[in-house]
Amino acid sequence: MIITVINQKGGVGKTTTSVNLAYTLAKTKNTALIDLDPEGGATVSFGIKREKKDYPLGGKSVNIFNVEMFPAHIGLLKVELNGDIESTVSTLRKIAESFDYLVIDTPPNLGTLSVSAMMAADKIVTPITPQPLVLEAAKNLDSRLVSLNKKAFAVTNMSKKAVNVDYSAVKSIDIAIPQSKLFSEATRLGVPAIRYEEFRVKKPKLGSLYEKLAKMVIE
Ligand SMILES: Nc1ncnc2c1ncn2[C@@H]1O[C@H](COP(=O)(O)OP(=O)(O)OP(=O)(O)O)[C@@H](O)[C@H]1O
Ligand SMILES: [Mg+2]
Repeated sequence: MIITVINQKGGVGKTTTSVNLAYTLAKTKNTALIDLDPEGGATVSFGIKREKKDYPLGGKSVNIFNVEMFPAHIGLLKVELNGDIESTVSTLRKIAESFDYLVIDTPPNLGTLSVSAMMAADKIVTPITPQPLVLEAAKNLDSRLVSLNKKAFAVTNMSKKAVNVDYSAVKSIDIAIPQSKLFSEATRLGVPAIRYEEFRVKKPKLGSLYEKLAKMVIE
């Protein structure tokens, strides 16, 4: 199953969501995470360096915390600029065949990489925050998804309360990930926040929210 995390708006929590969702799914299932953002946020969040080499898509992976992590590399820029959507979709589907779940982190745009990840997806997760411009972006994404006949779960990030979004394709689920400094601390250390929380906090709270998200997405 391909789970694509997408929102063309920057900084809403795509990378945070994909990293922690993949970490959570990997506890019980054969899970991979592919970083399709040339900026390599998910790669860094798993404590690895962005690859300077030019690999084909899916050409390199490393197993960390039970997640088969496909790091960002220079080749992604080539796909973004010159790649075609059809072959990118088929490569992503091919990679997914080796896993129960393939989580895809996407860049903050609707270019070749993001659109391919959107088309290849069995499930789509769209992180949103309670800001007007983010909701505007979700509305634009909704039109794109409608034209592709796809649906997305909107999960609220950086808020105590879930934002209610009820568009044609993008509909919110009742999960709100609150603001927490654990996220930036964990990224600095190169570990998923949920992993960090398990060791650092006596009464973990974020972990159960991602468990709930994982359950809703895969069912
Ligand atoms: N719930 C949260 N509480 C506090 N900080 C958060 C939370 N979620 C994300 N962040 C922080 O906000 C910043 C942006 O998050 P993230 O990188 O996941 O967003 P993104 O949508 O992937 O951004 P981009 O579009 O640039 O790829 C990061 O520094 C991250 O650590
Ligand atoms: Mg990101």
